[in-house]
Amino acid sequence: MSCIMKATIIFFLLAQVSWAGPFQQRGLFDFMLEDEASGMGPDDHDSDVPELPPMGPVCPFRCQCHFRVVQCSDLGLNKVPTDLPPDTTLLDLQNNKITEIKDGDFKNLNNLHALILVNNKISKISPGAFAPLVKLERLYLSKNHLKELPEKMPKTLKELRVHENEITKVRKSVFNGLNQMIVVELGTNPLKSSGIENGAFQGMKRLSYIRIADTNITAIPQGLPSTLTELHLDGNKISKVDASSLKGLNNLAKLGLSFNSISVVENGSLANTPHLRELHLNNNKLVKVPGGLPEHKYIQVVYLHNNNISTVGTNDFCPPGFNTKKASYSGVSLFSNPVQYWEIQPSTFRCIYVPSAVQLGNYK
Ligand SMILES: *[C@@H]1O[C@H](CO)[C@@H](O)[C@H](O)[C@H]1NC(C)=O
Ligand SMILES: *[C@@H]1O[C@H](CO)[C@@H](O)[C@H](O)[C@H]1NC(C)=O
Ligand SMILES: *[C@@H]1O[C@H](CO)[C@@H](O)[C@H](O)[C@H]1NC(C)=O
Repeated sequence: MSCIMKATIIFFLLAQVSWAGPFQQRGLFDFMLEDEASGMGPDDHDSDVPELPPMGPVCPFRCQCHFRVVQCSDLGLNKVPTDLPPDTTLLDLQNNKITEIKDGDFKNLNNLHALILVNNKISKISPGAFAPLVKLERLYLSKNHLKELPEKMPKTLKELRVHENEITKVRKSVFNGLNQMIVVELGTNPLKSSGIENGAFQGMKRLSYIRIADTNITAIPQGLPSTLTELHLDGNKISKVDASSLKGLNNLAKLGLSFNSISVVENGSLANTPHLRELHLNNNKLVKVPGGLPEHKYIQVVYLHNNNISTVGTNDFCPPGFNTKKASYSGVSLFSNPVQYWEIQPSTFRCIYVPSAVQLGNYK
């Protein structure tokens, strides 16, 4: 009899306990004993620690297992449960008190696609801990106490979330060979620009989304991969947008830089991101509208509210003539700037056909 069938039968018997009244205890143990007699004897075990009956791992105590999803969240666990079913595809261990991930914690889990360790107390991950996870695609480690990113992450990884930890360093080597990676989330960590190694993200050949919001970085990270479509750097201490740091970002569609201290956007920044659609620069220290908007073909959303812009020129947003190649703006915000809306010439927005797309008023 296969392990799955046995587990199914046990599950069925247990289900009968709760749904159909009195527990047929004798029958259940008869079944187990029968199995013991016909199968593994004591010689097959290499220690004399009491073990579960020899029927392969079932669902760990107090966890819930359905359709190869193992749910062990909110159980106060201080370590990863042993005997996880080897066919598990999703393991949810969030909201526990796990402090350390050790080698062997995930042994046999070679079918695991997603591992959720959010909101524990993890400060240490042994370098070999993820080695058995040859199919892992999603690793969620947010809200822990990690000081560095884990080493030797599975090459199959597509999404890494390490929001709200204590990470101060991002080394290039941790991302080596992670050629399937699409999403990296590193927000709310005590990172400084000097902590991010130059080109740290460059080796990831499919990387599409990076979020490093609410940290202490003072510049856009250098050497970003050209595959990026979204870069979210809001809530940092960036004071200037260097055109060079955006060089080659031909696929970038969304750039989030709100809530920084940016006073200068270098000319050429927009030319380096020819497919940009959304630019969030609200809550900064800009004194003028960034250059290059009239020539830009695809930009649709430009948030500039809560800055220090005191004048807006008639050619700041729209090309001089009638230019059909330019996509229309769908959202431009200029409120909460020293410039008063009556000081802006209506023709400034001549290439915007939806009046509600422009927000000018100083709502206070
Ligand atoms: C940024 O640095 C300040 C002190 O300079 C610190 O108080 C703050 O917690 C840091 N931010 C993060 C996200 O670590
Ligand atoms: C940026 O471009 C604008 C208009 O194209 C020009 O007036 C300005 O001098 C340039 N700034 C720098 C620093 O090159
Ligand atoms: C706003 O810009 C003016 C110069 O145009 C400068 O004197 C002032 O200090 C700036 N205010 C802030 C809050 O940065």
